[in-house]
Amino acid sequence: MQGQLSMSAESIEWPAADPHAFSKTEFRDAMARLGAAVNIITTQGAAGLAGFTASAVCSVSDEPPTLLVCLNRAASVYSAVTANGVLCVNTLAAGQEQLSQLFGGKTPVAERFAAAGWSELKTGAPALHDALVSFDCRITRVADGGTHDILICAVEAIRRRGDGHGLIYFDRAYHHARGAA
Ligand SMILES: Cc1cc2nc3c(=O)[nH]c(=O)nc-3n(C[C@H](O)[C@H](O)[C@H](O)COP(=O)(O)O)c2cc1C
Repeated sequence: MQGQLSMSAESIEWPAADPHAFSKTEFRDAMARLGAAVNIITTQGAAGLAGFTASAVCSVSDEPPTLLVCLNRAASVYSAVTANGVLCVNTLAAGQEQLSQLFGGKTPVAERFAAAGWSELKTGAPALHDALVSFDCRITRVADGGTHDILICAVEAIRRRGDGHGLIYFDRAYHHARGAA
């Protein structure tokens, strides 16, 4: 029998999954089937400049404009992002695979940012010049997501391109998504 679902205004907690139902590898293989846009998340402030690649980004609500980003607590960028309290979600276009790899690896921060052009919107977090869209955000809430923190972000400014095709990460590889135009 399924355990009871416990609910509060802040969170909904399912009972822990049966640890023998599937392995971590099976879960990762299953998640590889879930395609997602590729983004570079940046931050700038008293805690310094930082940026990383993330596919765990999604819309939360449009009133107020809110999105979420999942960040691994073990990532080198973790303290800078959470201490600065601001971030910019830069959604990559087809052809920007190398930038994704650079911000997803163990590359030094200066080398990551030297590979592209940046400017500021409202919060001071770097907005990528050629991004399909940039969402400049303030982190309003942080929820526990196991190995990751779920950053709930209020969107304060947007800059978007009308052209370009999308970049999707699916089955552990990059794919291009054609725009309607
Ligand atoms: C396509 C792709 C998607 C990724 N998505 C995420 C993500 O959603 N959240 C996250 O914390 N890390 C994600 N990563 C990994 C981070 O980019 C990576 O851990 C970070 O840059 C780590 O490096 P560092 O600890 O050397 O800074 C992703 C990496 C790639 C290549």
